[in-house]
Amino acid sequence: MRRKLVVANWKMHGSRARNRQLLDAVKPPLQSLAGRVDIAVCPAHLHLGETVAALAGSNIRPGAQNLYGLAEGAMTGETSASMLVDCGAEFVILGHSERRGHLGETDAEVADKFAAARESGLIPILCVGETRAERDAGETEAVVSRQLDAVTEKTGMEAMRGAVIAYEPVWAIGSGTPATPEQAQAVHAMLRERLARRSEEIAGGVRILYGGSMNAANAAELFAQPDIDGGLVGGASLKAEEFITICTSAGS
Ligand code: 13P
Repeated sequence: MRRKLVVANWKMHGSRARNRQLLDAVKPPLQSLAGRVDIAVCPAHLHLGETVAALAGSNIRPGAQNLYGLAEGAMTGETSASMLVDCGAEFVILGHSERRGHLGETDAEVADKFAAARESGLIPILCVGETRAERDAGETEAVVSRQLDAVTEKTGMEAMRGAVIAYEPVWAIGSGTPATPEQAQAVHAMLRERLARRSEEIAGGVRILYGGSMNAANAAELFAQPDIDGGLVGGASLKAEEFITICTSAGS
């Protein structure tokens, strides 16, 4: 039985004061979910240290939104996996479609980042997902398979043990229109089946999150699907009541 995981992706939002306010509001109610659902919050790198401090003693775990796939070196402006670990991150979101789409991040770069995360002990959250045009062209399976295979082929299946995948259809992100539970379940099952061809045992333990316009009103029916193991939540994670409701749905 995979315990559900809900991850807040704060993206490039927040300030020191607003983050503190939001965490103050969500920490006490979410404490009652300890042991039933795993919860993580991924702030901007600059806010990681203070977020880690604010989460001390709570059941919410800190994560980051990106890393650079080298241990250390001359790479101005970038942040390594070991730096994130040193500052208290436990998770890292990798290959988000905003990075793939707007910043040109390639499958190969995402695979390097995944390997770096694993080497440093971070739990990677690998994002995959198709655009509207790709879905309309019937290419969903080919696209997400290519994104997944780029990682498993570089790192080997053992690196997927305990890792997290997030299926985020690009057309659903920030659009207000999520994938239907059936659409999401079909892709989640396909991703798990693809992993199971390499190792059924490891595939059975990988948590596959859904992301894309998840909110308090639609989370429960998404979580009811057998291969949806939680959510990667953008906009709704910035609203205390919404995020609390989503986490509560995951824990019930
Ligand atoms: P929204 O929940 O705002 O659609 O964003 C989803 C997302 O991209 C999470 O990584």
